[in-house]
Amino acid sequence: MSDHNFDVVVIGSGPGGYVAAIRASQLGLKTALVEKGNLGGTCLNVGCIPSKALLHSTEMLHFAEKKAKNHGIKLEGVSFDLSTMMGRKTTVVETLKQGVQMLVTKKGGTIFQGLGVIQNPDTVIVKQDDGDLTLSTKNIIIATGSTPIELPFLPYDGEKVVSSDQAIAFDSVPEELAVIGASAIGLELGSVWARLGSKVTVIEYLPKIAPTFDDDICKLSERVFKRQGLTFHTATRVTGAETAGEKVVLTAEKNGKEITIEADKVLVAVGRKANSEGTGLDSVGIELDDRGRIPIDAHFKTSVPGIYAIGDVVAGPMLAHKAEEEGVAVAEVIAGKAGHVNYDVIPGVIYTDPEIASVGISEQQAVEQGIAVKTGSFNLSANGRAIASDITEGMVKVIADAKTDRLLGVQILAHGASELIAAAVTHMEYGGSAEDLARTIHAHPTVSESMKEAALGVDGRGIHSI
Ligand code: NAI
Repeated sequence: MSDHNFDVVVIGSGPGGYVAAIRASQLGLKTALVEKGNLGGTCLNVGCIPSKALLHSTEMLHFAEKKAKNHGIKLEGVSFDLSTMMGRKTTVVETLKQGVQMLVTKKGGTIFQGLGVIQNPDTVIVKQDDGDLTLSTKNIIIATGSTPIELPFLPYDGEKVVSSDQAIAFDSVPEELAVIGASAIGLELGSVWARLGSKVTVIEYLPKIAPTFDDDICKLSERVFKRQGLTFHTATRVTGAETAGEKVVLTAEKNGKEITIEADKVLVAVGRKANSEGTGLDSVGIELDDRGRIPIDAHFKTSVPGIYAIGDVVAGPMLAHKAEEEGVAVAEVIAGKAGHVNYDVIPGVIYTDPEIASVGISEQQAVEQGIAVKTGSFNLSANGRAIASDITEGMVKVIADAKTDRLLGVQILAHGASELIAAAVTHMEYGGSAEDLARTIHAHPTVSESMKEAALGVDGRGIHSI
């Protein structure tokens, strides 16, 4: 017997799930949102939001300690209180969590706390401490997200060997922090703890940091982050680990030689894996792909009619905004509308300082795909606003189709690149060309003029470049 009847039951309340629930409610569907942990999922509780709170606090500390004097600002005895910093982060998370609850319920959705398990295509069981609830439903959306990947020889212990879940909440600053993986999580949290005083060593298997970006952006990023005190070992494979007293000693292979890296804590940031277990998928006959993800078609439908999946648990970049877009689209599909996601134009950002942002394909990917491209770039050291604001580290690169001039990609290393990339996303969403970007008037003086200059550079007619 069912306790409740719904049109849609969403399992998982991260940016994919809660947005799907809101959009489904807006479209008049009776919607339930089931969450076993905290509302908002990884992004809000242990990912995007708390890391950005810490990045911002530590950027301000870095400014006070290292940069203020360049502006004639005299600050003496600058120090920080880690527990206050962490407390502020928690307040930010709590505020937004209440926001999610308010939004979902005000739009008409019902939230159930407990583990959602699919019993059959029209029944979800919510397992709670004091018993089970049965929800009958016409449609199910699985939005159960992802969890950090563990290295087989370096299991997480939550103390010395940690994932990002713990590295956003250390209660003291580790003297030495080793980070395995030089992508978004490794670089962001490596930056946070380096600014707080840790000696941070980042080990990356591939030959460059932020490896999905083009070489010129990666090289410049590495130079900038080294100046900020981070140490990098690229083209280095961690092969083993041992605990020696209070320390962990990592063994790694670099250029055919064995090196060792000693640390108080090791942050493993080598990717995330889909959360596809424990949701009852086997009971309805949904088979996973070779990476444990739920296969779906272009309309987010799994192999079982009435069951859909979105976000990190399906293929594609594990990004909150990709999941959100899929959440909107899947609700629209269920409501009989034409929900759609443009996967060619999803921005990606690493929130270091400067930030590294991109949209579309890199020059390297264009070469791999056999697409002839023209590129233009502009260095921030020639941008008036960047000089005035003391944020000259970085560059913008524009990648355009050599035949049609259509914008294929933009990569930015700049303070505020996460905001700058939005203009490139819009140009690309509307099918814009490098010429369109080059002829768009940008306010002066702004760092965004570097985008226009890079676009002009595609045809070698940059005004402020040599
Ligand atoms: P990632 O998959 O983006 O990068 C992992 C890095 O670790 C790669 O550069 C890889 O070459 C390296 N690696 C893998 N195994 C290694 C080994 N044994 N030794 C040394 N290096 C190794 O993973 P990351 O940074 O953990 O992020 C996980 C997911 O979360 C990604 O999909 C990412 O996009 C997403 N995320 C996004 C953020 C953002 O948008 N700012 C922030 C945090 C996470």
